[in-house]
Amino acid sequence: MKALAAALVLALSAALPAFAGPCTPSDIVVKFATVVSATDNPKGIAAQIFADRVNREMAGKVCVIVYPDSTLYDDDTVLQAMLQGDVQLAAPSLSKFEAFTKVFRLFDLPFLFTNLAAVSAFEASPAGAKMKNAMLSRGLTGLEFWHSGMKQFSANRPLVWPADAKGLKFRIQPSDVIAAEIRALGAQPQSIAFSDVYSALKTGVVDGQENTWSNIYAQKFYKVQDGITETNHGVLEYLVVTSTDFLNSLPPAIRRQFLSILHQVTVERNAAVTQVEAKSRAAILAAGGHIRQLTPAERAAWVKAMQPVWAEFRADVGPENIAAAQAIDKRLAAQTRGDGE
Ligand code: LMR
Repeated sequence: MKALAAALVLALSAALPAFAGPCTPSDIVVKFATVVSATDNPKGIAAQIFADRVNREMAGKVCVIVYPDSTLYDDDTVLQAMLQGDVQLAAPSLSKFEAFTKVFRLFDLPFLFTNLAAVSAFEASPAGAKMKNAMLSRGLTGLEFWHSGMKQFSANRPLVWPADAKGLKFRIQPSDVIAAEIRALGAQPQSIAFSDVYSALKTGVVDGQENTWSNIYAQKFYKVQDGITETNHGVLEYLVVTSTDFLNSLPPAIRRQFLSILHQVTVERNAAVTQVEAKSRAAILAAGGHIRQLTPAERAAWVKAMQPVWAEFRADVGPENIAAAQAIDKRLAAQTRGDGE
């Protein structure tokens, strides 16, 4: 009898498709690919919280499986895979959409946003909200912007003044604006996939990099660099994206609930990012990493060195978008100072 039952189970499981993790045969399976750590990066944390909520609140209808650390796709392959229906969600950084749209170049302009509050306010503005639809004609729908944090520079020698970067090779994301920013320093940009950055820094393929505290900590970049210079020179921002075909294939009530959970997680996790970043910064120090802070004069020199990048991309990005972002940044900075401008 036992043998018969076992044979039956075996025959049944061979006939059914393999359902990973919490998924059951009645679920719409949503694969969510990321390149980051599931525990130390704001995107990794948000993706898992989102998956847990969907799997609990939409059990039997939708099931989300998160694949962190580039275990399913790298950012340079994920969008094509999405269009082919092999993955349903991803949140590449805005620097990685160049093959699909140039509108996100705005976010890579050095020293445009003072902090993440200004980034949030711009994204909520009409100019920012419109950007989510920039890839509709290419079959992709932007769902939500997720923060990662402000970017910092590091290298295998001390970076205090912009001239210290001269002649060095920096790993960059595949973004023409970031490439121009590195060239403006008299340095050489090299685009390398996120999963290969640690070994590229360790083996000297490149000398330096720019990223957020959480990525510098989780990927252990600080261990193979002389130190990290707190430049806050740019933002690392993500777009949660899906294929428009997949989104339209969801029954309306399911789509509504799915997007509503995503929105709630977005609001909650974007509000928590500053804390996640501060924790990573503290963890780097606790692990013996060296952090350099800039004096106002040193910082002003970095701003000046990278300023020409703005003129180079002004037409591409749209002067009206730059003006809108600057106005928001200025207003928020004034509010923070309390002068009520
Ligand atoms: C990078 O490639 O440095 C980042 O885009 C990785 C990430 O997703 O945070």
